[in-house]
Amino acid sequence: PGVEPFTVRMPVPRVLRPTRVHGDHDFFEHVIRPAEVGILPGRRTAALTFGGSFVAPTIRVKAGRRARIKFVNRLGEPANVHLHGGHVAPGSDGYPTDPIAPGASRIYDYPNRQAATTLWYHDHTHHQEAEHVYRGMHGFYLIESDAEKRMGLPSDEFDVPLMIRDAAFDGDGQLVFDLTVDPAASRLVPLANGKVRPFFPVAARRYRFRILNASNHRTFHLTLGGAPMTQIGSDGGLLPRPVPLTELALSPAERADVVVDFGGAPAGTRFVLDSTDLGPILRFDVTRRAHDTSRVPPVLRTMPPLAPAVREREIVLDLGPEMRTFTIDGKTFDPDRVDAVVKRGTTEIWKIRNATTVFGPVDHVFHMHLVQFRVLDRDGAPPPPGETGYKDTVHIPGGTSVRVQATFTDFVGRYVYHCHMMEHASMLGMMAQMEIVP
Ligand code: C2O
Repeated sequence: PGVEPFTVRMPVPRVLRPTRVHGDHDFFEHVIRPAEVGILPGRRTAALTFGGSFVAPTIRVKAGRRARIKFVNRLGEPANVHLHGGHVAPGSDGYPTDPIAPGASRIYDYPNRQAATTLWYHDHTHHQEAEHVYRGMHGFYLIESDAEKRMGLPSDEFDVPLMIRDAAFDGDGQLVFDLTVDPAASRLVPLANGKVRPFFPVAARRYRFRILNASNHRTFHLTLGGAPMTQIGSDGGLLPRPVPLTELALSPAERADVVVDFGGAPAGTRFVLDSTDLGPILRFDVTRRAHDTSRVPPVLRTMPPLAPAVREREIVLDLGPEMRTFTIDGKTFDPDRVDAVVKRGTTEIWKIRNATTVFGPVDHVFHMHLVQFRVLDRDGAPPPPGETGYKDTVHIPGGTSVRVQATFTDFVGRYVYHCHMMEHASMLGMMAQMEIVP
């Protein structure tokens, strides 16, 4: 609202340091609390945060090295934490009805026995997650590996987590959380790492941007003014091969790992990351030359052959019969009901069909906890190249279906799956659960 674009520099969220390093794990402490943060120039905005910052500190861990994180809840109301895309035990998964009581703390155990990738952490408190996340309970969780380091991709200061989302503000500069805000309304603005349309000075070389769409509801269609980008990764880590693109669609909770080469652009050149939805999001200003030894290898990852699936299920996403809820297989979420029983160690195919078309097609974004899955097909056709790696979140336009395949290893217990249009899941019921059994 009335913010002059490209006047504020985009921050990179600080990295959370472990408070103790043990033989077999790193220990972190993180406080969940309200804070006044600077989103709009010259104003303070009330937010709900991890560690006091809007875009929480980034947690960086190594694949294979366990992290234990003590979350202290000083929010004054129940809150919890879900590591989105993490392969973790049920007690550390942020189950909706398993909050950390106000004033209490809880240690979440993250084994990090999974591929290097860009995950994120956010609140998942039953009926509150949409508002909590909207008000700021979102941050990056990066799993890194030596193998990936050796590939020579842009690293360190040239490896930048980039959270994009939308937000609405009132005249006092406070966040407005309102389900009835029309996503096309003009008072919605895009944020990049928690600032409205900032600029980001870059050197004339390759950068890696780990883009996360942390919007509750909005799918972004991104361009760089026609300049080429190279997608190297998605939710579950590197893609098999780099994918050249000039436009990128990113639904809520999806991640795209993208390399942009500013090399060859003279100082003073500007590149605007634009969206067809909300206009410009961020401007990259080439300010200096730099030596660049980074590269994007032609082969990034070898996908293992698909394991044989023991069964195929159909999951139907639709509007409730009374038109006031969203359902999965005709039901809204009930924490006491198990919707799918899965045997640990098995591989299943889930065909997810979005049947929400009554008043015209409505998009959903399907997310499964616990696993990284592979997209087999979209309405029978092979997935686009950006969906040939591992995913935990998949966009399903109204009237279409997607088949995914997952292997359910290690843990037993209850895990939810839901639409990641936060309001659909949080307030309108579009969530179900599976129980993994021995
Ligand atoms: Cu990112 Cu169950 O959510």
